[in-house]
Amino acid sequence: MEDLNKTDFDEKAATWDEDPRRVRLANDVADAIIREMKPTRDMDALDYGCGSGLVTLRLQPLVKSITGMDSSRAMLEVIQGKVKKQGLKNVRTQFVDFEKGGKAEGKFHLVVSSMTLHHVHEPAGLFKQLYDLLLPGGYLGIADLDKEDGSFHDDNTGVLHFGFERAYLKGLLEKTGLRELRDTTAATVVKENEGKERREFPVFLIIGRK
Ligand SMILES: C[S@@+](CC[C@H](N)C(=O)[O-])C[C@H]1O[C@@H](n2cnc3c(N)ncnc32)[C@H](O)[C@@H]1O
Repeated sequence: MEDLNKTDFDEKAATWDEDPRRVRLANDVADAIIREMKPTRDMDALDYGCGSGLVTLRLQPLVKSITGMDSSRAMLEVIQGKVKKQGLKNVRTQFVDFEKGGKAEGKFHLVVSSMTLHHVHEPAGLFKQLYDLLLPGGYLGIADLDKEDGSFHDDNTGVLHFGFERAYLKGLLEKTGLRELRDTTAATVVKENEGKERREFPVFLIIGRK
């Protein structure tokens, strides 16, 4: 059955990178992942909900391989186009929607997911999937909005959570089996719409280890 409260990422894919605020946010998140999680050339990495590959391709030169997984075929076509154009040999893509029973494949030293969790009904369900994809000792990094009042997105269709409390997510991750949990602020999105007050939306990066 069609889910009416679902963002149409297929429709947005071709122009996703045209919004400089999105690109800046993804770059800031990727830089925080690099700073805090220290990817290395012997690691196989996964970016779940990779979208057009903004985070994936910033991590690509630093790891052995990186797989971008997404539930939007059009987003995957965008990242595949970039991979082909740049002649990259260590990037794979996989179509997966775990909420529709799709099974992600592979084992990874490093798993990250940026700005995808608020589009997922059950965060605990995604954490379980990502945990199973991690090799023992591997690291998981989840980036998303801190709790907000619903004003971050211009259209809240498909926005299933208005951000998250970090302590709540860390509790869920601990129950999933992750340890050494910590968090940092990866980015702050500033919105200043005409006539409206200036708003700041912090984005966390929570890191845990299997
Ligand atoms: C806001 S975009 C973020 C894209 C990218 N991570 C970035 O930071 O630029 C969210 C992405 O998550 C994907 N997504 C949403 N729900 C998903 C699911 N259940 N399984 C896989 N991907 C999903 C969407 O298709 C979309 O590409």
